[in-house]
Amino acid sequence: MDETTMRDALLVAAENAATRAYAPYSQFHVGAAVMLSDGTIVQGCNIENASYGLSVCAERVAIWSAVAQGRQDIVGMGLIVPKGTPCGACRQVMSEFCPPDMPVWVQNADGTVHRFTVAELLPAAFVPDDLE
Ligand code: THU
Repeated sequence: MDETTMRDALLVAAENAATRAYAPYSQFHVGAAVMLSDGTIVQGCNIENASYGLSVCAERVAIWSAVAQGRQDIVGMGLIVPKGTPCGACRQVMSEFCPPDMPVWVQNADGTVHRFTVAELLPAAFVPDDLE
């Protein structure tokens, strides 16, 4: 699949996921989608909690959902976020499950789309191999 097709499919799926964000405290609705090697897309949205610190970002929900479905062959990610880029915790989780050269497209509310790789988002990451 070419990159443009992957990007467009991921951003459409992430937009769909954002409609299911549970964000009554921040009102900051985020949607994420990861693509697996066979083209399957797994979605995630942010899910907050009255105990605020238990809230989780859309990116981690999408990645962990794929892993929970027995899939660790993630090849791309799309994110719809009002403003900004993935938080540090999500970057670390991306480093665990995604290749360093994997594309991550981030679309903000103003319509701009930025393309990062996982390694650009978290250079010099602490990775599973470091525990060997
Ligand atoms: N959030 C995400 O889901 N992803 C991001 O990249 C940034 C922040 C969520 C966490 C929280 O529910 C809300 O957005 C405000 O921080």
